[in-house]
Amino acid sequence: MAKPLYILNGPNLNLLGSREPEIYGKETLDDVRARCERKAAELGLSIEFRQSNHEGELVAWIQEARTSASGLIVNDGAFTHTSIAMLDALLACSIPSVEVHLSNIFTREPFRHHSYISKAVRGVICGFGAKSYELAIEALTGLIASKRLS
Ligand code: DQA
Repeated sequence: MAKPLYILNGPNLNLLGSREPEIYGKETLDDVRARCERKAAELGLSIEFRQSNHEGELVAWIQEARTSASGLIVNDGAFTHTSIAMLDALLACSIPSVEVHLSNIFTREPFRHHSYISKAVRGVICGFGAKSYELAIEALTGLIASKRLS
């Protein structure tokens, strides 16, 4: 059995659906999880989907993913723009990884334009709402398959 894709969600993403729906949409985090499960199943993969409001817990999960996951998708929420610890955890993680955001961070406040973690991932997908996660799963599947062939 292949290792799962880890899909990690940072602070305040537990409030999806009721949190600023004009920016993040009306789907809840459980809806996003269901979308991810469907997409992964289509592609013959399994997922481990988690959310935390705590930076240290997210760092621990990224460390766990180094050996337990085949690939990693991260929506670090506001830690994207503040956390060198998250960057370092991702730099230490050699499995393929993708950064996702529901909103297009580049059309928002200037402090959201910089991501500490982009340097450590293979690519960034943002601005497509919950669909960003499905696109990330597709991209990651391709990366994992090409790694297996090489
Ligand atoms: C976010 C964008 C971040 O700037 C913000 O702090 C979030 C959500 C997104 O998915 O659009 O919490 O990561």
